[in-house]
Amino acid sequence: MKTVLVLGSGAREHALAWKLAASPQVSRVIVAPGNDGMPTQWERWDFSGLSADFSKLAERARAEKVDLTVVGPDAYLADGIVDVFTQLGLCVFGPTQAAAQLEASKAFAKGVMAAAGIPTASYQEFLDEASARTYIELLKGPFVIKADGLALGKGVVVCDSIAEGLEALPRLFAVNGRQKGRVIIEEKVSGEESSWMAICDGEHCAVLEPARDYKTLREGGRGPNTGGMGAFSPVTSYGPEFQERVLREVFQPTLKEMKRRGTPFRGVLYAGLMISGLKYWVLEFNARFGDPEAQVLLPRIDENLEDFYDLCLLSAQGKMKSDRAVKMKSEHAVYVVAAAPGYPENPVKGARFICKVRESAVPEYFFAGVRKTEKPDEFEVSGGRVFGALGMAKGVGDVCAANAASTARSLAYDRLRRVSFEGMQIRSDVGSGQPIPIAVLASGRGSNFEAILRAITLNRLNARVVAVVSDRAQAPVLEKARASGIPAIHVPALKEISREAHDEAILRALKESALEAPVFLVLAGYMRIVTPKLIEAFRSERGYSRVVNIHPSLLPSFRGLNGYAQAFEHGCQVTGATVHLVEVELDDGPICAQAAFSIGDCRSSEEVEKMGLDVEHRLFPEALSWILPEQFEITFEGRARVRPN
Ligand code: GRF
Repeated sequence: MKTVLVLGSGAREHALAWKLAASPQVSRVIVAPGNDGMPTQWERWDFSGLSADFSKLAERARAEKVDLTVVGPDAYLADGIVDVFTQLGLCVFGPTQAAAQLEASKAFAKGVMAAAGIPTASYQEFLDEASARTYIELLKGPFVIKADGLALGKGVVVCDSIAEGLEALPRLFAVNGRQKGRVIIEEKVSGEESSWMAICDGEHCAVLEPARDYKTLREGGRGPNTGGMGAFSPVTSYGPEFQERVLREVFQPTLKEMKRRGTPFRGVLYAGLMISGLKYWVLEFNARFGDPEAQVLLPRIDENLEDFYDLCLLSAQGKMKSDRAVKMKSEHAVYVVAAAPGYPENPVKGARFICKVRESAVPEYFFAGVRKTEKPDEFEVSGGRVFGALGMAKGVGDVCAANAASTARSLAYDRLRRVSFEGMQIRSDVGSGQPIPIAVLASGRGSNFEAILRAITLNRLNARVVAVVSDRAQAPVLEKARASGIPAIHVPALKEISREAHDEAILRALKESALEAPVFLVLAGYMRIVTPKLIEAFRSERGYSRVVNIHPSLLPSFRGLNGYAQAFEHGCQVTGATVHLVEVELDDGPICAQAAFSIGDCRSSEEVEKMGLDVEHRLFPEALSWILPEQFEITFEGRARVRPN
């Protein structure tokens, strides 16, 4: 029977050690340093994580006859822990310091990608701030600046303007990585992001199905970047054919190039991909399992068909023999992270919470920044990401995929909500992997519809527009829908039919022509009053209406038509736009979001409207990003508010 040693202290290492412990070959699990949330039957060794202590740890591993060491964190790899263990004759899963540069240096990774012919965004490398500034000032489109070196997820800034770039530059040049003082600036590419991991032995690899992680602290891509607030797998849009393509076009050429350079890559190679239609770009390489991706991928590896211990061992020994796909269960997995207040900038430690860990084949929780207190089941927050909850559910084929994903998601959130501590931060939209189908109702030019489409393309809104309906045949919005390949339906508002009959006709048209049944109805410049017929058809089990509207005023002021003109004519200094759930009374229903702007200097109502539309185009998609996943509650005052963490 075998002894394994897992290095690291996060939730990823909890998942790694659990998966290794589940192998029939493994009888003894040691974690160094591990954390207090891990099962007590695992041994814990002290380990500072500093490179000065690598040799001491390796000697202890040799003395205690560890058969396989598995390294979690990138920092240990970049500091050469694999080299130290290998020198002592130990078997260790992970890349050498030289090979780990694929993650530790963005410039190195770009060089490898170029040499191996891997599609990636075009870029330039800069060693001094002055030339980077000159370069940025000449850029036309959006761009991305990356600090060269490990920066715990904080080394990348996406810039939509030159000013943003110039502001970020000094900070990125000062990132305390090993390549201090070097940045790369690359073209910004857009599409859907997914994480692909392969277990490699220097020459061959076994590719896992993809996962998606959530990098920003808040829903819909808002807030600062973090280590990762949650993940789900599989990403159903990419089947076995795409997996095969990633194997052939990304992993094989990279392994070949690394071998040619004399630094063969062993361990987990992680490729972050941006996919748009049939095109894709490799955004980055990492040299280890992603955290939180490991927490959804490892539970999905089929233990009846794969022995995870063997996979790691063969990788470490360079004995994988051929390229293949890792056999994974059809189950969907969703994992949601609970972070400390103040995370990621200044995590506040010390809050206490109760978490009863139930015995189960697959853990309900993976722990990270926790310290055990003297009381049973009580923990104290001791780090940024504190723990995460996992949910898994079976799906068969495409029809059930959406159900399995949402069941897994509810399970994860239910488990997460059983635990709480003061200031606990969670994202409410993790695992809404299947975009939420919506239908748009509009009567006019449809600039809000376009803003919604843009947000979807930019991954800021997880939705799919299944149909656009208009009461006006000539409405430009219908043309815009057709141009995007979305069914455009005209339901004429004939004089002789009642409002109710018109709404019924809309429901029928949606049934016949929409690609799938919409969950939400989004009114974007719809100039008719909707009746209970429509609202009741979209009422949720929790009682609120799933019809959302944007209104051009700060409700309850200026209901009805021409909200901006009304505000201007009243001599208002400030006006704004409101997103609300639609109830029967005109421009009523729970208010979800508002944005105000000053109009004191405006000379005409047209000027106010122009400003208003700009505001709407930001406000509406942002509000939809938390309304559609239905992670809100209606307060006593009748306001829809993001559910407090
Ligand atoms: C917007 O001002 C919106 O607030 C109101 O109608 C207008 C629609 O504009 N309900 P567009 O058709 O989205 O360009």
